[in-house]
Amino acid sequence: MITVKHLKKSFNGVPVLRDVNAVINKGDVISLIGPSGTGKSTFMRCLNLLETPDGGEIEVNGKNILDPKADVPGMRMKMGMVFQHFNLFPHLTVIENIMLAPVNLLKQSKEEAYGHAMELLGIVGLTDKANSLPEELSGGQQQRVAIARTLAMGPEIVLFDEPTSALDPTMVGEVLSVIRNLAKTGITMLIVTHEMRFAKDVSTRVFYMDEGVIYEEGTPEQIFENPQRPRTRSFVRRINMLCFELSGKEFDLYHFNNEVENFAVRQLIRPERINKIVLVLEELLKNILFPITEKLQIELGISSEDGTVEIRTLWEGETSDPLAATTMPTTAPSATAGPASAAGPQIPEGIGSKAMESSAQAMEGTGSKSTDGASVQADSGLNALDSELPDMDSIGLRALDSEEIGLARMIVTKSCLSREFETANGYSALTIRL
Ligand SMILES: Nc1ncnc2c1ncn2[C@@H]1O[C@H](COP(=O)(O)OP(=O)(O)OP(=O)(O)O)[C@@H](O)[C@H]1O
Ligand SMILES: [Mg+2]
Repeated sequence: MITVKHLKKSFNGVPVLRDVNAVINKGDVISLIGPSGTGKSTFMRCLNLLETPDGGEIEVNGKNILDPKADVPGMRMKMGMVFQHFNLFPHLTVIENIMLAPVNLLKQSKEEAYGHAMELLGIVGLTDKANSLPEELSGGQQQRVAIARTLAMGPEIVLFDEPTSALDPTMVGEVLSVIRNLAKTGITMLIVTHEMRFAKDVSTRVFYMDEGVIYEEGTPEQIFENPQRPRTRSFVRRINMLCFELSGKEFDLYHFNNEVENFAVRQLIRPERINKIVLVLEELLKNILFPITEKLQIELGISSEDGTVEIRTLWEGETSDPLAATTMPTTAPSATAGPASAAGPQIPEGIGSKAMESSAQAMEGTGSKSTDGASVQADSGLNALDSELPDMDSIGLRALDSEEIGLARMIVTKSCLSREFETANGYSALTIRL
């Protein structure tokens, strides 16, 4: 349907698209992924000639649309585009926004355009908003109208450029669900997205763009689970993992929660689960870890297999297990390799700083280690509240009253499927799974 050969585009002498080659077949749902600034939007804009390429060919149904004699407006109508910002006309109602181009450009009668627009509003679930103005709609609803407006032109392919990235996290789901349903209808789509779980679920193929080329392409399984080339591998590893170096003094909880929420939304985690993750992280950081260490590294990983969330933390100093309420400092907990951890989910390897990696290696096999299974976990969490709390000074917990700490421990430990604590060679590491 679309064949792109040796496509090139520079801005002010800086090459953005160096040599893009791609084939898009009818019915393909292609996710275009890659680091920021690698030319994904430029590629899309070249496809429907919002940008003029410097060289190469774009054939649509056998016709080169870069040929000076090509029917550019006609070609453009075949390619609908949905942008990050919905660009609805503010003074027109929802139904008028959708009817505008079919009436003006396709010369449809108002009745015909109206009937079709109502049908499309049904598809995006907004029939009751037909006569509302855009400003009366939420961002997610406006984007759904923008999708209906694009479909009203009967495009052969729909290009989505990050359709959810301008939305509040709570509205991402409704828009993705509309796109997911569209994908099932067999319409050809190219989607630039940072929602990786979505890309994985919805696409027939994935293009990974980097260095001005389509650096690797394959099925979602190939690209996300078994990427062949180094840059793809490093990208995929990075998107499955959120890493921070945090300082207790400068800790901005609001910013941190925001990052975690956005990350979790991109991984298609359910809102209730996101709330739980945010709550556990808040208790873990503010009430458990920052009282014992000023600086720490934290990695958040989501298992691509079962959606289990793994939170790894690492800090300098050999402390005792901050979650084991009855454990005294420097007393190594007995090693009990629990079955829960042995059968634990496959979490992508972290990309933390050298310190994290080297210290983790250094600790392997040499340090004291405690591993609890899920059932043990829940009990010890409750016991932490019931039993006497440890000597605060002895484990370095300060400025928090014992009730707060006990509650924080209970919230964290009750939420864990399993946890591990290790300490050796000047570092301590706590890993929990939710
Ligand atoms: N009209 C323009 N004029 C000058 N430079 C531009 C223009 N459009 C894009 N660029 C530059 O081209 C490069 C690629 O931009 P593009 O928007 O295509 O990247 P992207 O992969 O879509 O990134 P993101 O994921 O951040 O949206 C960037 O360095 C950008 O600054
Ligand atoms: Mg872009």
